[in-house]
Amino acid sequence: MKLTIVGSGYVGLVTGACLADTGNTVLGYDISAEKVAVLNRGESPIFEPGLTELIQANMRAGRLRFTTDCPAAMRHGEVIFIAVGTPPREDGSPDLTAMHAVADDIADHINGPKIVVIKSTVPVGTGDDLEQRINRRSKHRVAVVNNPEFLKEGTAVDDFQRPDRVVIGAEDPVAGATVRELHEPFVRNQRPILLMRRKAAEMTKYAANCCLAARISFINQIANICDALEIDVNEVRTGIGWDARIGFQFLYPGAGYGGSCFPKDVQALVHVAERAGVKADLLQAVHEVNQRQREVLFHKIAARFGPDLSERAFGIWGVSFKPKTDDIREAPAVVLIEKLLDAGAKVSAHDPVALGNLRKRFGDRVACCPQAYEALSGADALVIVTEWNEFRSPDFDEIARRLRQPLIFDGRNLYALDRMAARGFEYHSIGRPVVRATRG
Ligand SMILES: NC(=O)c1ccc[n+]([C@@H]2O[C@H](COP(=O)([O-])OP(=O)(O)OC[C@H]3O[C@@H](n4cnc5c(N)ncnc54)[C@H](O)[C@@H]3O)[C@@H](O)[C@H]2O)c1
Repeated sequence: MKLTIVGSGYVGLVTGACLADTGNTVLGYDISAEKVAVLNRGESPIFEPGLTELIQANMRAGRLRFTTDCPAAMRHGEVIFIAVGTPPREDGSPDLTAMHAVADDIADHINGPKIVVIKSTVPVGTGDDLEQRINRRSKHRVAVVNNPEFLKEGTAVDDFQRPDRVVIGAEDPVAGATVRELHEPFVRNQRPILLMRRKAAEMTKYAANCCLAARISFINQIANICDALEIDVNEVRTGIGWDARIGFQFLYPGAGYGGSCFPKDVQALVHVAERAGVKADLLQAVHEVNQRQREVLFHKIAARFGPDLSERAFGIWGVSFKPKTDDIREAPAVVLIEKLLDAGAKVSAHDPVALGNLRKRFGDRVACCPQAYEALSGADALVIVTEWNEFRSPDFDEIARRLRQPLIFDGRNLYALDRMAARGFEYHSIGRPVVRATRG
Protein backbone atom coordinates (compact mmCIF):
# COMPACT_ATOMS: atom_id res chain seq x y z
CA MET A 1 0.00 0.00 0.00
CA LYS A 2 1.16 3.60 -0.52
CA LEU A 3 1.44 5.38 2.81
CA THR A 4 2.30 8.91 3.92
CA ILE A 5 3.54 9.56 7.43
CA VAL A 6 3.25 13.16 8.56
CA GLY A 7 5.80 13.98 11.27
CA SER A 8 9.19 12.24 11.41
CA GLY A 9 9.72 12.19 15.17
CA TYR A 10 9.82 9.21 17.52
CA VAL A 11 6.39 7.89 16.53
CA GLY A 12 6.39 8.86 12.84
CA LEU A 13 9.82 7.45 12.09
CA VAL A 14 9.20 4.15 13.83
CA THR A 15 5.76 3.80 12.22
CA GLY A 16 7.10 4.63 8.77
CA ALA A 17 10.14 2.37 8.97
CA CYS A 18 8.18 -0.60 10.35
CA LEU A 19 5.39 -0.25 7.77
CA ALA A 20 7.96 0.05 4.95
CA ASP A 21 9.58 -3.09 6.29
CA THR A 22 6.40 -5.09 5.67
CA GLY A 23 6.41 -4.05 2.00
CA ASN A 24 4.49 -0.77 1.90
CA THR A 25 5.80 2.22 -0.04
CA VAL A 26 6.21 4.92 2.55
CA LEU A 27 6.80 8.65 2.16
CA GLY A 28 7.76 10.44 5.37
CA TYR A 29 6.90 14.14 5.42
CA ASP A 30 8.13 16.68 7.95
CA ILE A 31 8.21 20.47 8.07
CA SER A 32 11.73 20.37 9.46
CA ALA A 33 14.08 20.60 6.46
CA GLU A 34 17.00 19.85 8.77
CA LYS A 35 15.43 16.56 9.91
CA VAL A 36 14.55 15.51 6.37
CA ALA A 37 18.10 16.26 5.18
CA VAL A 38 19.54 14.07 7.96
CA LEU A 39 17.10 11.28 7.07
CA ASN A 40 17.86 11.47 3.37
CA ARG A 41 21.55 10.94 4.23
CA GLY A 42 20.40 7.63 5.77
CA GLU A 43 20.92 8.85 9.35
CA SER A 44 18.39 8.96 12.15
CA PRO A 45 17.83 12.32 13.88
CA ILE A 46 16.97 10.46 17.10
CA PHE A 47 18.60 7.65 19.03
CA GLU A 48 16.38 4.58 19.07
CA PRO A 49 17.86 1.05 19.08
CA GLY A 50 17.49 -0.69 15.69
CA LEU A 51 15.89 2.31 13.99
CA THR A 52 18.82 3.51 11.87
CA GLU A 53 19.35 0.02 10.44
CA LEU A 54 15.64 -0.32 9.65
CA ILE A 55 15.50 3.11 7.96
CA GLN A 56 18.63 2.39 5.91
CA ALA A 57 17.49 -1.08 4.80
CA ASN A 58 14.12 0.20 3.64
CA MET A 59 15.57 3.29 1.94
CA ARG A 60 17.97 1.00 0.04
CA ALA A 61 15.03 -1.20 -0.98
CA GLY A 62 13.24 1.90 -2.33
CA ARG A 63 10.30 1.55 0.04
CA LEU A 64 11.06 4.55 2.29
CA ARG A 65 11.71 8.18 1.36
CA PHE A 66 11.50 11.50 3.16
CA THR A 67 10.38 14.87 1.87
CA THR A 68 9.45 18.42 2.81
CA ASP A 69 7.20 18.64 -0.26
CA CYS A 70 3.77 18.90 1.33
CA PRO A 71 1.53 18.62 -1.76
CA ALA A 72 3.50 15.59 -3.03
CA ALA A 73 3.25 13.96 0.40
CA MET A 74 -0.51 14.48 0.59
CA ARG A 75 -0.99 13.02 -2.88
CA HIS A 76 1.26 9.97 -2.29
CA GLY A 77 -0.52 7.95 0.38
CA GLU A 78 -3.82 6.09 0.15
CA VAL A 79 -3.50 6.19 3.91
CA ILE A 80 -2.04 9.27 5.64
CA PHE A 81 -0.76 8.78 9.18
CA ILE A 82 -0.48 11.85 11.41
CA ALA A 83 2.29 11.64 14.02
CA VAL A 84 2.97 15.28 14.86
CA GLY A 85 3.47 16.53 18.40
CA THR A 86 0.61 17.49 20.71
CA PRO A 87 2.52 19.34 23.47
CA PRO A 88 0.81 20.72 26.57
CA ARG A 89 -0.32 24.34 26.81
CA GLU A 90 0.08 26.34 30.04
CA ASP A 91 -3.26 25.06 31.36
CA GLY A 92 -2.40 21.40 30.64
CA SER A 93 -4.64 21.10 27.60
CA PRO A 94 -2.96 19.66 24.50
CA ASP A 95 -1.90 22.12 21.82
CA LEU A 96 -3.44 20.88 18.58
CA THR A 97 -1.95 23.60 16.36
CA ALA A 98 0.21 21.11 14.42
CA MET A 99 -2.73 18.66 14.05
CA HIS A 100 -4.91 21.41 12.62
CA ALA A 101 -2.17 22.57 10.26
CA VAL A 102 -1.80 19.02 8.96
CA ALA A 103 -5.58 18.66 8.57
CA ASP A 104 -5.62 21.81 6.41
CA ASP A 105 -2.65 20.55 4.37
CA ILE A 106 -4.51 17.29 3.75
CA ALA A 107 -7.67 19.14 2.74
CA ASP A 108 -5.77 21.45 0.39
CA HIS A 109 -3.63 18.89 -1.40
CA ILE A 110 -5.22 15.43 -1.53
CA ASN A 111 -6.04 14.13 -4.98
CA GLY A 112 -8.76 11.62 -4.09
CA PRO A 113 -10.47 9.97 -1.10
CA LYS A 114 -8.07 9.04 1.69
CA ILE A 115 -7.94 7.33 5.04
CA VAL A 116 -6.38 9.57 7.70
CA VAL A 117 -4.96 7.77 10.72
CA ILE A 118 -4.27 9.76 13.88
CA LYS A 119 -1.25 8.22 15.65
CA SER A 120 -0.62 11.25 17.83
CA THR A 121 -2.16 11.23 21.29
CA VAL A 122 -5.20 13.48 21.00
CA PRO A 123 -8.15 14.38 23.22
CA VAL A 124 -11.45 12.59 22.87
CA GLY A 125 -13.40 14.07 19.99
CA THR A 126 -10.37 15.09 17.89
CA GLY A 127 -11.17 12.42 15.29
CA ASP A 128 -14.69 13.85 14.86
CA ASP A 129 -13.35 17.41 14.63
CA LEU A 130 -10.58 16.60 12.19
CA GLU A 131 -12.87 14.61 9.89
CA GLN A 132 -15.34 17.49 9.74
CA ARG A 133 -12.58 20.08 9.31
CA ILE A 134 -11.03 18.25 6.34
CA ASN A 135 -14.30 17.25 4.69
CA ARG A 136 -15.66 20.81 4.93
CA ARG A 137 -12.56 22.18 3.20
CA SER A 138 -11.71 19.47 0.65
CA LYS A 139 -13.54 18.28 -2.43
CA HIS A 140 -12.38 14.72 -1.65
CA ARG A 141 -13.71 12.78 1.32
CA VAL A 142 -11.59 11.40 4.10
CA ALA A 143 -12.37 8.88 6.85
CA VAL A 144 -10.45 9.52 10.06
CA VAL A 145 -9.29 6.57 12.16
CA ASN A 146 -7.68 6.72 15.59
CA ASN A 147 -4.81 4.27 16.05
CA PRO A 148 -3.05 5.17 19.31
CA GLU A 149 0.62 4.31 19.59
CA PHE A 150 1.84 2.46 22.67
CA LEU A 151 5.54 2.24 21.81
CA LYS A 152 8.08 3.02 24.51
CA GLU A 153 11.15 5.07 23.62
CA GLY A 154 14.19 2.84 23.98
CA THR A 155 12.34 -0.25 22.69
CA ALA A 156 10.14 1.50 20.14
CA VAL A 157 10.91 -0.64 17.09
CA ASP A 158 10.38 -3.85 19.00
CA ASP A 159 7.18 -2.53 20.59
CA PHE A 160 5.80 -1.58 17.18
CA GLN A 161 6.72 -4.89 15.61
CA ARG A 162 5.51 -6.98 18.57
CA PRO A 163 2.66 -5.05 20.17
CA ASP A 164 0.72 -6.39 23.16
CA ARG A 165 -2.37 -5.30 21.25
CA VAL A 166 -3.32 -2.92 18.47
CA VAL A 167 -6.17 -0.49 19.08
CA ILE A 168 -8.10 0.86 16.11
CA GLY A 169 -10.94 3.31 16.59
CA ALA A 170 -12.99 3.72 13.44
CA GLU A 171 -16.47 4.94 12.57
CA ASP A 172 -16.05 3.84 8.94
CA PRO A 173 -15.76 0.02 8.74
CA VAL A 174 -13.79 0.01 5.47
CA ALA A 175 -11.24 2.46 6.86
CA GLY A 176 -11.01 0.40 10.07
CA ALA A 177 -10.45 -2.81 8.06
CA THR A 178 -7.68 -1.15 5.98
CA VAL A 179 -5.79 -0.04 9.07
CA ARG A 180 -6.30 -3.50 10.53
CA GLU A 181 -4.76 -5.08 7.43
CA LEU A 182 -1.68 -2.85 7.76
CA HIS A 183 -1.14 -4.12 11.31
CA GLU A 184 -1.80 -7.81 10.72
CA PRO A 185 1.86 -8.62 9.90
CA PHE A 186 2.77 -7.50 13.42
CA VAL A 187 0.32 -9.73 15.30
CA ARG A 188 1.12 -13.11 13.80
CA ASN A 189 1.70 -14.24 17.41
CA GLN A 190 -2.10 -13.99 17.86
CA ARG A 191 -2.02 -10.75 19.82
CA PRO A 192 -5.38 -9.00 19.41
CA ILE A 193 -6.31 -6.15 17.10
CA LEU A 194 -9.10 -4.40 18.95
CA LEU A 195 -11.54 -2.53 16.74
CA MET A 196 -13.64 -0.03 18.65
CA ARG A 197 -15.43 3.30 18.37
CA ARG A 198 -13.12 6.20 17.58
CA LYS A 199 -13.67 8.05 20.87
CA ALA A 200 -13.05 4.86 22.86
CA ALA A 201 -9.67 4.46 21.13
CA GLU A 202 -8.77 8.08 21.90
CA MET A 203 -9.69 7.53 25.54
CA THR A 204 -7.84 4.18 25.68
CA LYS A 205 -4.50 5.88 25.03
CA TYR A 206 -4.98 8.39 27.85
CA ALA A 207 -6.30 5.74 30.24
CA ALA A 208 -3.26 3.51 29.53
CA ASN A 209 -0.71 6.26 30.17
CA CYS A 210 -2.56 7.55 33.23
CA CYS A 211 -2.71 4.04 34.68
CA LEU A 212 1.06 3.57 34.25
CA ALA A 213 1.81 7.05 35.60
CA ALA A 214 -0.45 6.33 38.59
CA ARG A 215 1.52 3.18 39.42
CA ILE A 216 4.77 5.17 39.37
CA SER A 217 3.37 7.94 41.57
CA PHE A 218 1.87 5.32 43.88
CA ILE A 219 5.18 3.54 44.51
CA ASN A 220 6.98 6.88 44.82
CA GLN A 221 4.57 7.94 47.53
CA ILE A 222 5.01 4.58 49.28
CA ALA A 223 8.79 5.13 48.99
CA ASN A 224 8.57 8.54 50.64
CA ILE A 225 6.56 7.07 53.51
CA CYS A 226 9.16 4.29 53.80
CA ASP A 227 11.89 6.94 53.86
CA ALA A 228 10.29 8.67 56.82
CA LEU A 229 9.71 5.39 58.68
CA GLU A 230 13.17 3.95 57.87
CA ILE A 231 11.76 1.01 55.96
CA ASP A 232 13.42 -0.34 52.79
CA VAL A 233 10.84 0.21 50.04
CA ASN A 234 12.49 -2.52 48.01
CA GLU A 235 11.35 -5.10 50.54
CA VAL A 236 7.84 -3.67 50.37
CA ARG A 237 7.94 -3.60 46.57
CA THR A 238 8.80 -7.29 46.37
CA GLY A 239 6.21 -7.98 49.06
CA ILE A 240 3.44 -6.54 46.91
CA GLY A 241 4.86 -7.27 43.45
CA TRP A 242 4.60 -11.02 43.79
CA ASP A 243 0.87 -10.62 44.25
CA ALA A 244 -0.43 -11.69 40.83
CA ARG A 245 -3.04 -8.94 40.99
CA ILE A 246 -0.34 -6.30 41.36
CA GLY A 247 2.87 -7.43 39.61
CA PHE A 248 6.16 -5.55 39.33
CA GLN A 249 5.80 -3.49 36.18
CA PHE A 250 5.97 0.28 36.67
CA LEU A 251 6.44 -0.19 40.41
CA TYR A 252 10.02 1.03 40.66
CA PRO A 253 10.51 3.98 42.98
CA GLY A 254 12.68 6.71 41.52
CA ALA A 255 13.16 10.34 40.68
CA GLY A 256 9.77 10.66 38.99
CA TYR A 257 8.51 10.04 35.49
CA GLY A 258 9.35 12.30 32.55
CA GLY A 259 9.35 12.19 28.79
CA SER A 260 7.00 13.66 26.27
CA CYS A 261 4.00 11.46 27.15
CA PHE A 262 3.15 10.72 30.80
CA PRO A 263 3.42 14.27 32.15
CA LYS A 264 1.41 15.81 29.32
CA ASP A 265 -1.14 13.00 29.01
CA VAL A 266 -2.02 13.01 32.72
CA GLN A 267 -2.52 16.77 32.61
CA ALA A 268 -4.50 16.49 29.39
CA LEU A 269 -6.93 13.96 30.85
CA VAL A 270 -7.41 16.14 33.95
CA HIS A 271 -8.27 18.98 31.60
CA VAL A 272 -10.63 16.86 29.49
CA ALA A 273 -12.37 15.55 32.62
CA GLU A 274 -12.84 19.03 34.06
CA ARG A 275 -14.33 20.27 30.81
CA ALA A 276 -16.74 17.34 30.95
CA GLY A 277 -17.68 18.29 34.53
CA VAL A 278 -15.90 15.31 36.11
CA LYS A 279 -13.57 15.79 39.08
CA ALA A 280 -10.23 14.14 38.22
CA ASP A 281 -8.67 14.45 41.66
CA LEU A 282 -6.91 11.09 41.51
CA LEU A 283 -5.16 12.06 38.26
CA GLN A 284 -4.37 15.51 39.63
CA ALA A 285 -2.70 13.84 42.61
CA VAL A 286 -0.71 11.54 40.28
CA HIS A 287 0.64 14.67 38.60
CA GLU A 288 1.37 16.54 41.83
CA VAL A 289 3.14 13.57 43.43
CA ASN A 290 5.33 13.38 40.34
CA GLN A 291 6.13 17.09 40.33
CA ARG A 292 7.39 16.72 43.92
CA GLN A 293 9.21 13.49 43.17
CA ARG A 294 11.26 15.10 40.44
CA GLU A 295 12.69 17.35 43.17
CA VAL A 296 13.40 14.57 45.65
CA LEU A 297 17.08 14.18 44.73
CA PHE A 298 17.66 17.90 45.06
CA HIS A 299 16.03 17.92 48.51
CA LYS A 300 18.23 15.03 49.63
CA ILE A 301 21.30 16.90 48.38
CA ALA A 302 20.19 20.15 50.05
CA ALA A 303 19.48 18.29 53.30
CA ARG A 304 23.02 16.87 53.20
CA PHE A 305 24.91 20.04 52.18
CA GLY A 306 22.57 22.92 53.09
CA PRO A 307 20.70 25.21 50.67
CA ASP A 308 23.75 27.17 49.48
CA LEU A 309 25.62 24.93 47.07
CA SER A 310 27.93 27.60 45.65
CA GLU A 311 31.05 25.80 46.84
CA ARG A 312 29.78 22.42 45.64
CA ALA A 313 30.13 20.39 42.46
CA PHE A 314 28.07 17.39 41.37
CA GLY A 315 28.62 14.71 38.77
CA ILE A 316 25.40 13.48 37.17
CA TRP A 317 25.04 10.12 35.48
CA GLY A 318 22.08 9.81 33.13
CA VAL A 319 20.15 12.78 31.78
CA SER A 320 17.69 11.20 29.32
CA PHE A 321 14.25 10.67 30.85
CA LYS A 322 14.88 6.93 30.74
CA PRO A 323 17.57 4.57 29.42
CA LYS A 324 18.12 3.81 25.73
CA THR A 325 16.82 7.14 24.48
CA ASP A 326 18.36 10.56 23.90
CA ASP A 327 15.06 12.27 24.77
CA ILE A 328 15.40 14.76 27.65
CA ARG A 329 11.90 16.25 27.41
CA GLU A 330 10.52 16.66 30.96
CA ALA A 331 13.44 14.56 32.24
CA PRO A 332 13.94 14.51 36.03
CA ALA A 333 17.65 15.20 35.38
CA VAL A 334 16.77 18.51 33.74
CA VAL A 335 14.73 19.53 36.80
CA LEU A 336 17.61 18.53 39.09
CA ILE A 337 20.25 20.34 37.04
CA GLU A 338 18.14 23.55 36.98
CA LYS A 339 17.81 23.43 40.77
CA LEU A 340 21.50 22.68 41.35
CA LEU A 341 22.54 25.56 39.08
CA ASP A 342 20.06 27.90 40.80
CA ALA A 343 21.61 26.95 44.15
CA GLY A 344 25.04 27.90 42.81
CA ALA A 345 26.48 24.41 42.27
CA LYS A 346 28.75 23.34 39.44
CA VAL A 347 27.37 20.47 37.39
CA SER A 348 29.14 17.93 35.17
CA ALA A 349 27.04 15.34 33.41
CA HIS A 350 27.49 12.12 31.53
CA ASP A 351 24.93 10.25 29.46
CA PRO A 352 25.66 7.58 26.83
CA VAL A 353 23.57 9.29 24.11
CA ALA A 354 21.77 12.41 25.39
CA LEU A 355 24.67 14.87 25.80
CA GLY A 356 23.88 16.55 22.47
CA ASN A 357 20.39 17.41 23.65
CA LEU A 358 21.70 18.43 27.07
CA ARG A 359 24.17 20.82 25.43
CA LYS A 360 21.33 22.34 23.37
CA ARG A 361 19.34 22.85 26.59
CA PHE A 362 22.03 24.19 28.94
CA GLY A 363 24.89 25.38 26.68
CA ASP A 364 28.11 25.76 28.65
CA ARG A 365 26.32 26.07 32.00
CA VAL A 366 26.83 22.29 32.37
CA ALA A 367 30.06 20.42 31.60
CA CYS A 368 29.11 17.57 29.26
CA CYS A 369 31.43 14.59 29.75
CA PRO A 370 31.57 11.87 27.07
CA GLN A 371 33.30 9.61 29.59
CA ALA A 372 31.37 8.64 32.74
CA TYR A 373 34.16 8.92 35.33
CA GLU A 374 35.30 12.26 33.94
CA ALA A 375 32.07 13.80 35.29
CA LEU A 376 33.11 12.88 38.84
CA SER A 377 36.57 14.45 39.08
CA GLY A 378 36.58 16.82 42.04
CA ALA A 379 32.81 16.53 42.56
CA ASP A 380 31.25 16.37 46.03
CA ALA A 381 28.96 13.52 45.01
CA LEU A 382 27.79 11.33 42.17
CA VAL A 383 24.07 11.70 41.43
CA ILE A 384 22.48 8.92 39.36
CA VAL A 385 19.27 9.99 37.66
CA THR A 386 18.78 7.53 34.77
CA GLU A 387 19.32 3.78 35.11
CA TRP A 388 21.46 3.10 32.04
CA ASN A 389 22.79 -0.46 32.11
CA GLU A 390 26.43 0.63 32.26
CA PHE A 391 25.81 2.30 35.63
CA ARG A 392 24.74 -0.98 37.26
CA SER A 393 28.21 -2.42 37.88
CA PRO A 394 30.61 0.52 37.78
CA ASP A 395 34.18 0.63 39.11
CA PHE A 396 33.41 1.81 42.65
CA ASP A 397 37.10 2.31 43.49
CA GLU A 398 37.40 4.67 40.53
CA ILE A 399 34.26 6.53 41.67
CA ALA A 400 35.69 6.92 45.18
CA ARG A 401 39.08 8.03 43.80
CA ARG A 402 37.52 10.74 41.62
CA LEU A 403 35.06 12.19 44.16
CA ARG A 404 36.03 14.48 47.04
CA GLN A 405 34.38 11.90 49.30
CA PRO A 406 32.71 8.53 48.58
CA LEU A 407 29.14 9.82 48.35
CA ILE A 408 26.36 8.76 45.98
CA PHE A 409 22.78 9.96 45.57
CA ASP A 410 20.99 7.29 43.57
CA GLY A 411 17.61 8.22 42.08
CA ARG A 412 17.05 4.70 40.72
CA ASN A 413 18.03 2.36 43.60
CA LEU A 414 20.68 0.57 41.53
CA TYR A 415 22.85 -0.81 44.33
CA ALA A 416 22.40 -3.10 47.35
CA LEU A 417 22.57 -1.21 50.64
CA ASP A 418 24.85 -3.66 52.47
CA ARG A 419 27.36 -3.74 49.60
CA MET A 420 27.55 0.05 49.46
CA ALA A 421 28.30 0.14 53.18
CA ALA A 422 31.03 -2.49 52.75
CA ARG A 423 32.50 -0.51 49.83
CA GLY A 424 32.89 2.50 52.11
CA PHE A 425 30.24 4.73 50.53
CA GLU A 426 27.72 7.07 52.03
CA TYR A 427 24.73 6.16 49.90
CA HIS A 428 21.38 7.91 49.62
CA SER A 429 18.66 6.27 47.54
CA ILE A 430 14.88 6.45 47.20
CA GLY A 431 12.72 5.05 49.99
CA ARG A 432 15.61 3.18 51.58
CA PRO A 433 17.61 3.96 54.71
CA VAL A 434 20.76 6.03 54.24
CA VAL A 435 23.92 3.93 54.23
CA ARG A 436 26.99 5.09 56.11
CA ALA A 437 30.30 3.41 55.38
CA THR A 438 31.27 0.40 57.50
CA ARG A 439 34.89 0.56 56.31
CA GLY A 440 37.15 3.53 56.59
N1 LIG B 1 7.40 9.66 21.91
C1 LIG B 1 6.68 8.64 22.38
O1 LIG B 1 7.18 7.75 23.07
C2 LIG B 1 5.22 8.53 22.03
C3 LIG B 1 4.56 7.32 22.24
C4 LIG B 1 3.21 7.23 21.92
C5 LIG B 1 2.54 8.34 21.45
N2 LIG B 1 3.20 9.52 21.28
C6 LIG B 1 2.45 10.66 20.73
O2 LIG B 1 2.77 10.79 19.36
C7 LIG B 1 2.82 12.17 18.98
C8 LIG B 1 4.17 12.49 18.39
O3 LIG B 1 5.15 12.30 19.39
P1 LIG B 1 6.72 12.27 19.05
O4 LIG B 1 7.43 12.01 20.33
O5 LIG B 1 6.94 11.39 17.88
O6 LIG B 1 6.92 13.79 18.61
P2 LIG B 1 8.21 14.48 17.97
O7 LIG B 1 8.24 15.85 18.50
O8 LIG B 1 9.41 13.59 18.16
O9 LIG B 1 7.89 14.51 16.40
C9 LIG B 1 6.92 15.31 15.82
C10 LIG B 1 7.39 15.67 14.42
O10 LIG B 1 6.32 16.35 13.75
C11 LIG B 1 6.89 17.37 12.95
N3 LIG B 1 5.84 18.35 12.64
C12 LIG B 1 5.29 19.29 13.46
N4 LIG B 1 4.35 19.98 12.81
C13 LIG B 1 4.28 19.47 11.55
C14 LIG B 1 3.48 19.77 10.42
N5 LIG B 1 2.55 20.73 10.46
N6 LIG B 1 3.67 19.04 9.30
C15 LIG B 1 4.62 18.07 9.26
N7 LIG B 1 5.40 17.74 10.30
C16 LIG B 1 5.23 18.43 11.44
C17 LIG B 1 8.03 17.92 13.77
O11 LIG B 1 8.97 18.61 12.98
C18 LIG B 1 8.58 16.62 14.37
O12 LIG B 1 9.61 16.06 13.57
C19 LIG B 1 2.46 12.96 20.24
O13 LIG B 1 1.08 13.20 20.25
C20 LIG B 1 2.81 11.99 21.35
O14 LIG B 1 2.06 12.22 22.51
C21 LIG B 1 4.53 9.64 21.53
